[in-house]
Amino acid sequence: MSQSTNITWHDQTVTKQQRREKYKHHSYVLWFTGLSGSGKSTVANAVAKRLYDDHTNNYVLDGDNIRFGINKDLGFSEEDRKENIRRIGEVSKLFVDSGQVVLTAFISPFREDRDKVRELLEEDEFIEVYVKCSLAACEKRDPKGLYEKARQGIIKDFTGISSPYEEPNKPELIINTEKNSIEDCVEQIVQYLKGKNYYING
Ligand code: ADX
Repeated sequence: MSQSTNITWHDQTVTKQQRREKYKHHSYVLWFTGLSGSGKSTVANAVAKRLYDDHTNNYVLDGDNIRFGINKDLGFSEEDRKENIRRIGEVSKLFVDSGQVVLTAFISPFREDRDKVRELLEEDEFIEVYVKCSLAACEKRDPKGLYEKARQGIIKDFTGISSPYEEPNKPELIINTEKNSIEDCVEQIVQYLKGKNYYING
């Protein structure tokens, strides 16, 4: 429910469709979800570079970075994670409306929250990418040393250790960073986008 009253929605003079035609590509969200250390940011940034090189306007929203700014008031309780994802969903919708591709890299552990973002968008605007990597492998990588701290109880509510992660039921894509290289994961995503005619149409 909106807390604001006396507000009126203004349609944009330049429409989403006009922007898409000008930029010569579809606009959509690539929503990466998975455990901490699964490779969401790495793959998202590698796909972003590929899209950039191929003249697709895009931007990466990354959990760690966003929590330094727009979401710095949020922690890792269930309620705060929900709000984190809600805000990112709304911001992503603005990017899509602006004719760009947005790649989001958030654990986004709750199915219900991801599904709410899906509902905010049109059917061909939300691509859920499950970045699959076992907890054991993520814990072994432990790039930020957070799993060790979580095991010691220094970090509370840590996803996979003391807070749940709900795997997607029907993601558009599953990439396996435990078995495949980053390059192969990027290629898998690009091939999917090309197959859907989302890639470039000019
Ligand atoms: S989400 O669950 O709300 O989607 P988000 O992706 O924004 O999480 O942030 C996750 C990042 O925050 C992790 O990659 C890790 O670096 C850091 N982090 C710090 N504390 C926690 C925690 N308790 N659980 C998970 N990640 C944490």
